This record gives sequence, C-alpha cells and structure tokens, in this order.
Amino acid sequence: MPTVSPAPGRRGVLSYVRRSPRMTPSQAAWLARFADQWVIPVRTGELGTTVSPGLPVDLPTVFGRVAPLIVEIGSGHGDALVAAASTHPDVDFLGFEVFDASIAATLGKIDAAGVTNVRLIAADAVTGLTHLILPRSVQEIWVFFPDPWPKKRHHKRRLVSGAFADLASRTLIDDGVIRLATDSQSYAEHIEAILGADPRFELTSTQRFDTRPLTKFEKRGLEAGRAIHDFTYHVTGRES
Ligand SMILES: C[S@@+](CC[C@H](N)C(=O)[O-])C[C@H]1O[C@@H](n2cnc3c(N)ncnc32)[C@H](O)[C@@H]1O
Repeated sequence: MPTVSPAPGRRGVLSYVRRSPRMTPSQAAWLARFADQWVIPVRTGELGTTVSPGLPVDLPTVFGRVAPLIVEIGSGHGDALVAAASTHPDVDFLGFEVFDASIAATLGKIDAAGVTNVRLIAADAVTGLTHLILPRSVQEIWVFFPDPWPKKRHHKRRLVSGAFADLASRTLIDDGVIRLATDSQSYAEHIEAILGADPRFELTSTQRFDTRPLTKFEKRGLEAGRAIHDFTYHVTGRES
C-alpha cells in the first residue's frame, strides 16, 4: 500500500511515512478473508492513500443502522477500536489507517472479538474525513499516539494542525469530542498550542480516557520513562 499523503491546504506535507508492505502470514490471511466484510472501499488518488473527492460514504447502509459514530485516526492494530466496540455495541466505530499490515491486524481482532460495529478505511484520514464523512456527523474523533515527528523541521508534518482543527470542527456534532494521547512532551505542547488556543474547543479533561487500552506505543513511551499526556476537548463556541 502506498503510504504518503498531503494534508488539505498543505500539499506535499506528509503526516505519515512510507512503510514496508510486508505482512505476517496471519495478517495476509486476515486481509484476504475479512477485508471485503469490514473495509469500506474508497477511491484513492495517485498516491494510493489520499481519498479522491466524491460522494460521502452512506454510513447507515454500511453499518445497517443509524447510531452514534466514533472515528479513530491512525487506528494502528485496532486495539482501542475493537475494545471500545466490544463494550459499546450501541456505537459505530470507523478507523482510518494507511498501513495495510495494521488494517490486517485489526481485521484479526475484529474476528476474534466477534464485533460487527467496526469498519475500516485503508486511507488517509484527512482527505477521507474531508470527502467521505458528512459535516457534523461524528460524535468523537480519537487520535492516540500520532506519529510524533520530533524534529523541529518536521513539526509541519504532525497530524494535529490548524487544518486538522478546521476539519474536526466541520466534522463533529455539537458537543462533539476530540480525544488525544501522546507520550511526546513536545507533541503535547503542540496540541495545547493549537487546540488549547482555538475558541471552537474547550479542554474538559487531561485524565486518561478509561476506554483507551495500553498499546505498544504507550508501553514503549512508559518504558523509556516518558509521561503520557491525555487530552479531551469538547466542541464549544462554534458558529452555527
Ligand atoms: C504511532 S501509530 C499509533 C497507532 C495507534 N493509535 C496506537 O496507539 O497503537 C500512528 C498510526 O497513525 C497512522 N497514520 C498517521 N497519519 C495518518 C493519516 N493521516 N491517516 C490515517 N492513518 C494515519 C500511521 O500509519 C500509524 O499506524
């Protein structure tokens, strides 16, 4: 799977890195067996991961019902999505992930958990949310352990940006929520500088979100002695 994409308005600035398309035999088997069932096909552009403009996805048809929707950006191996889907069967979960092996691992977890309220889009979340998801239709957006881009000259590649704030404001319902977690002090400051200074959002908690399971990224941070920073922002003060 190609793995680069520009954020809207910042063409050429990439929020993720090219990774090897290699998979384990189990991942290849899960992908072959379950992709048709749980991965929503989308039209992608030249790079293969950016979503081309087109009609929004008909989510009630895809999920077979109308329910609150939670979107995870960079859902990785699906730990948070599948755990939450198991404990909240009344909510629909949509994960955007550009890395095929991670999509495959999530498919394995969906099967093991027996949940039916998770769907995946194997493409860039920024162009995906822009083109596929109706405005004011998402209850929560989750961004857990986004790629940190620690070097100053790479900060412009961070997923959280002014353009991301605009996109979240467009996509979330009234009183919608953004939940984020990072083990990078610098990224935490970056989040505070962008979302904390944005009058459309209010910081309502810095406690660990209790539904969020421990993933290898958090474990790696803890083992390296880094603090974990959690943020919950509510939509507020948005012009109607
Ligand atoms: C550091 S990993 C964290 C994965 C997961 N959230 C966790 O906590 O285990 C970040 C993930 O975000 C994905 N990613 C980064 N930018 C993305 C984008 N614009 N759209 C979709 N996925 C993205 C990467 O491929 C990677 O799998």
